[in-house]
Amino acid sequence: MQKALVLLTLLTAPAFAQQPVQQSDQTLTLSRVEKSHPLPNGLSATISGAALEITALRPDVLRIRIGRNNQLPEDASWAVLPAARTSTSPVTLDSSPDSISFHTEALRVSLNRRNGTLRVTDTAGHLLQQDTRPVEYHGSSFRLYKTMQPDEHFFGLGDKTGPLDRRNQAFTDWNTDYFGFQESSDPIYKSIPFFISFNQGRALGVLFDNTFRASFDFGKEFSNAYSFGAPDGPIDYYLFYGPTPRHVVETYAWLTGPSPLPPLWTLGFQQSRYSYYPEQRVLDIADRLREDKIPSDALYLDIDYQLKNRPFTVDPATFPTFTNMIDELAKKHFHVVAITDLHIAHLPNANYAPYDTGAAGDHFVKNPDGTTYVAPVWPGPAVFPDFTQSQSRDWWGTLYTQFYKDGIAGFWNDMNEPAVFQTPTKTMPDNIQHRINEPGFKPRTATHLEIHNVFGMQNTRATYEGLLKLKPDQRPFVLTRASYAGGQRYAATWTGDNSSTWNHLRMTTPMLLNLGLSGFGVSGADVGGFAGTPQPDLLTKWLEIAAFQPIDRDHTAKGTGDQEPWIHGLTHESIRRHFIEERYRLLPYLYTTAEEMSRTGLPIVRPLFLDFPNATPDGHPLDLDAGGEFLFGPDILVAPPAYPDMLDPYELKLPPGDWYDYWSGAHAAHITATTTRDLEQPLAATTKPHTPGAPSSTRDDASRHEAKVGSQDASGNQPLPNPLASATPHPILITPTLETLPVYVRGGAIIPIQPLVQSTDEKPQGPLTLRVYAPTPGSPNSDCHGTLYQDDGISFAFRNGSYLRIDSTCQITNNQLQIHIGKHEGTFQPWWHDLRIEIYGYNSTAPIASANNQPVPASAIQSNPIILTLPDPGTGLELILK
Ligand code: NOJ
Repeated sequence: MQKALVLLTLLTAPAFAQQPVQQSDQTLTLSRVEKSHPLPNGLSATISGAALEITALRPDVLRIRIGRNNQLPEDASWAVLPAARTSTSPVTLDSSPDSISFHTEALRVSLNRRNGTLRVTDTAGHLLQQDTRPVEYHGSSFRLYKTMQPDEHFFGLGDKTGPLDRRNQAFTDWNTDYFGFQESSDPIYKSIPFFISFNQGRALGVLFDNTFRASFDFGKEFSNAYSFGAPDGPIDYYLFYGPTPRHVVETYAWLTGPSPLPPLWTLGFQQSRYSYYPEQRVLDIADRLREDKIPSDALYLDIDYQLKNRPFTVDPATFPTFTNMIDELAKKHFHVVAITDLHIAHLPNANYAPYDTGAAGDHFVKNPDGTTYVAPVWPGPAVFPDFTQSQSRDWWGTLYTQFYKDGIAGFWNDMNEPAVFQTPTKTMPDNIQHRINEPGFKPRTATHLEIHNVFGMQNTRATYEGLLKLKPDQRPFVLTRASYAGGQRYAATWTGDNSSTWNHLRMTTPMLLNLGLSGFGVSGADVGGFAGTPQPDLLTKWLEIAAFQPIDRDHTAKGTGDQEPWIHGLTHESIRRHFIEERYRLLPYLYTTAEEMSRTGLPIVRPLFLDFPNATPDGHPLDLDAGGEFLFGPDILVAPPAYPDMLDPYELKLPPGDWYDYWSGAHAAHITATTTRDLEQPLAATTKPHTPGAPSSTRDDASRHEAKVGSQDASGNQPLPNPLASATPHPILITPTLETLPVYVRGGAIIPIQPLVQSTDEKPQGPLTLRVYAPTPGSPNSDCHGTLYQDDGISFAFRNGSYLRIDSTCQITNNQLQIHIGKHEGTFQPWWHDLRIEIYGYNSTAPIASANNQPVPASAIQSNPIILTLPDPGTGLELILK
């Protein structure tokens, strides 16, 4: 086979092939396949003088690299983990006179001999990606055009603005400090060159690992093609197949690493503003939160705590007893997060240690003439650490020594696009020099054009790794504004300087959902909006929705009105408190979801299509019909109106299955599995490649919402099947009100709930509640299960077994409900002794129960809904209810 392939490599140049040209501004079309070689894990070729290599890292993951002058680009990456990047998987070659081809257990890859274009399908022949034309260089810049199907939708690219679906839009990656960005603003703070193509139930992940000013066009230029390219740097991209979007997201985490398990307190309510000072003001805010019984965990110190805005200083005039203040706050169970911007004040000979030690170690970025680059930011003239040098990152990490000793719990890396003042580009010049010294990379000097988009990510890496060195057994918390693909390994993120408008509240949901799909599972937006002062109703509604988002941080700009939860009077405050309290009750569920994320990459907030990819008859993502809806973890669906200030009734869209009203426990809907066409098609199993070492979900349920049949559509593609395709038989209409937020629970969910606490430091008093939402037997997505994960919330002791996991299931058979509560796994001791089981959707006027074959006294059982409280033996409980 290999011999045949080599023989068939002496190939013809198609009519439109051009001679390779080396001049920097000229066109080079990669259309003449000159040579090719089989590889055990793929193929290599020379096309119009350029080197091409396509390799399988796993049966479902391909890496494609192209470099001019017959030289592959440097095999290095800031984003992709070395273990993933160097993985290989054997392929089977099956070239033909027309193409040089191979296949894996999951994919078929062929390079057209006539014109050098690439085609990737699944093993059943469904088209996943196809070049519409040969790759073309113009000087160092290049662009790749791929066929776009009529019903293909695009997600990801981080928190870029605009609708959830990226189709018909174009985007640029260039980290930009964009105060007051709007719905059409691009680029903004982050560059995450990863997207998911979703076409009729089939998902393909594309990571374009190029740190230059990359751009993406999803059908804006051409109605039948999408494209990506960059002005320079490597052609180095990864394709990874689902077919489920869930599998693609898990594979992205395999490639770039999942977000680590956050400290529990970071999932509590956080209060911030630019800036709380002097120190008495910080203490007053803390006192007011406690007096008003607004559960809360974190207070932020923005730049004004510093002396003249100099990072790693404290202003002794406004914070005279800084460490006492931190101690006081800790006694009140507040964690302090301090801002530490990367721009170090340019203060030679002034006893400013960050400058002195940085200069002594030669840690700052340079002008092309070798002098240190100095430019204005908050402290005035500033210098910028070269985070591409590992020794400079190590030095940066040491700057946290005192603050971390003082008890500051987390750090905020802002302005790290990097932002520079008094220049129209808002950042450093293109020709600034970075001296890459990084394992895996050739030591070399790179211009800012190459490093700009990874600068913020490497800033957070320096912080995260530095904190780990200082307190190896404490999980660091870093919040960043700028980042790149893979940056989720080091920091949580927020969406930057939004505005106090209803439209910004609306934009928050697609931004956080796309961030979650792009690896950043721990994310938030400034609650209440940063620029401007929110109207009372806006702040209330924002606090309601944010209670169901990963980071719940109220933050605003300097000079705006106050926007703490008590502003605007008691009525507003009590609604806001109610939602924050509900978040605290749900902490066991939220933390369990976060733990799943830390292993699998599945985000905390999710678009509906991620868990229900086959929810519509024609295979389009249900999200396109579902306005502002999103999933909070695997089982809770939050359904604000499409426009959060809307007054008109709107129709709720629910994925197939049973759904319950979260607030009342009432059965809300049974969405049947109606289909328009697929039921006539024969059943056939989908291929799910076995990938050793690849992460999997908490439960072995990656396919629980997947469907198994398909039919041919007009484009010749088989849409992934949708026996679960839904139609709501009777539309559920919701009339919006200020004080309500529609929230639903999946039938079959078992949700853990804790008694209310005022902070995560407080031990909950009372039983752990498990809310069991009974499924209708035989209904779609009805398998009944739930997990609870707990640990100490702060350390890495969980790695040594100090955690607690309980897996529970339920089943309705022979007119009885059986609930199995698993035994405690792990050594972590929980706070509860009793379990309170609340059952929804299974009623009996005179319920009879047994627990581990012992009758439960009738006096211990409440009906409508059925509630029973029992000691938790820790060894498992079998409950039977009749
Ligand atoms: C810009 C950040 O986006 C904002 O959140 C912060 O308050 C200001 N910088 C001041 O540090």
